[in-house]
Amino acid sequence: MESYSPDVLISEEDIALRLEDLGRAITEDYQGQELVVICVLKGAFMFCSDLIKKIELPIKLEFISLSSYGDGTSSSGNVVLDMDISSSIAGKNVLVIEDIVDTGLTIKTLNEMLLVRKPKSLKLASLLFKPSRNEHPAKIDYLGFEIEDKFVIGYGLDYAGRYRELPYVGVLNAGN
Ligand code: IMP
Repeated sequence: MESYSPDVLISEEDIALRLEDLGRAITEDYQGQELVVICVLKGAFMFCSDLIKKIELPIKLEFISLSSYGDGTSSSGNVVLDMDISSSIAGKNVLVIEDIVDTGLTIKTLNEMLLVRKPKSLKLASLLFKPSRNEHPAKIDYLGFEIEDKFVIGYGLDYAGRYRELPYVGVLNAGN
């Protein structure tokens, strides 16, 4: 089996510390209310699973799957809904959990899709944000880390389906 060791950009420890802050902020902002969390598959699965453990509120968890990337590192410019959530969000507090806001096209499309369903509120938590590539500004209510324009992998994020299992956010180096 080939071995690989991407360079660490954000360590497991730094992610865990940041998640404590985000979980606390979300808990305070929605005090006494139920939250519908929508995990955007596949990239956000690890961030979502760790973050919801830090939120001290009753949560209804939903999954949605969107794709805009093929197997490469640049967007196709076209967002496709692969799998929808399974219940109504009308009148509910909805928190979308994303892995990364890059050009912003995915989250713009998702926001439009969800707003017509009349949620009580709609907010966004994203582990990462690449400001240099942003074309469609969207408010990220709970942001993990701002990063430079590098293609990152790990902690849920993939390159051609690989590296999602890494416990840190990394960048591919010449050896990979
Ligand atoms: P956007 O629509 O350009 O904002 O891209 C959003 C989606 O592209 C994310 O949900 C990721 O799945 C993917 N993506 C963007 N940048 C990266 C990256 O650096 N590594 C892995 N996936 C990325």
